[in-house]
Amino acid sequence: MKLVLIGYMGSGKSSIGKLLSSALNVPFLDLDIYIEEREGKSISALFETKGEIYFRKKEAFFLEEALKTHEKIILATGGGTPCYGTIMEDLLKLENVLIIYLQCSVATLTQRLWFQKKERPLIAHSNTKEDLHDFIRKHLFERSYFYNKAHNKILCDTFSEKEIVEKIVLQLF
Ligand code: S3P
Repeated sequence: MKLVLIGYMGSGKSSIGKLLSSALNVPFLDLDIYIEEREGKSISALFETKGEIYFRKKEAFFLEEALKTHEKIILATGGGTPCYGTIMEDLLKLENVLIIYLQCSVATLTQRLWFQKKERPLIAHSNTKEDLHDFIRKHLFERSYFYNKAHNKILCDTFSEKEIVEKIVLQLF
């Protein structure tokens, strides 16, 4: 089984992915961390020194590599991963890959990301919570086109991580 978690920054892909990994006893891979390890640089440093286009190319390459080299995997993508090139189309064509969209409201994402924006180059420069909220609203609207192509969608706002994991596990069996 290959399970790919997609969703905006701050939607919980990594934490839900880790919990799912223990619940299902399937290895977990965080694409951002994999890129950082393989490139020897943090995501912020990659954006700063090589630029976003370089990062997007690497992101596509390492996603394909990770899915090819693992029989079973729970993979947390970066927030932008399915929204560039033909990544979402290509993912949907793969057999044995289930794509789950962790959907959160703009309000929830703003609240979470306000405290975690430093390490995220696309939002690091938002000076006020209102700026961040406006940016997320527009950006999420653009990205939702891709996120909504996922096989399954979980509305996450009002549920605990444990409940979200239970919902996903129920969808699998
Ligand atoms: C990005 C999301 C980040 C990371 C990079 C770009 C995006 O991952 O890949 O900063 O374009 O939304 P998280 O969703 O894990 O924060």
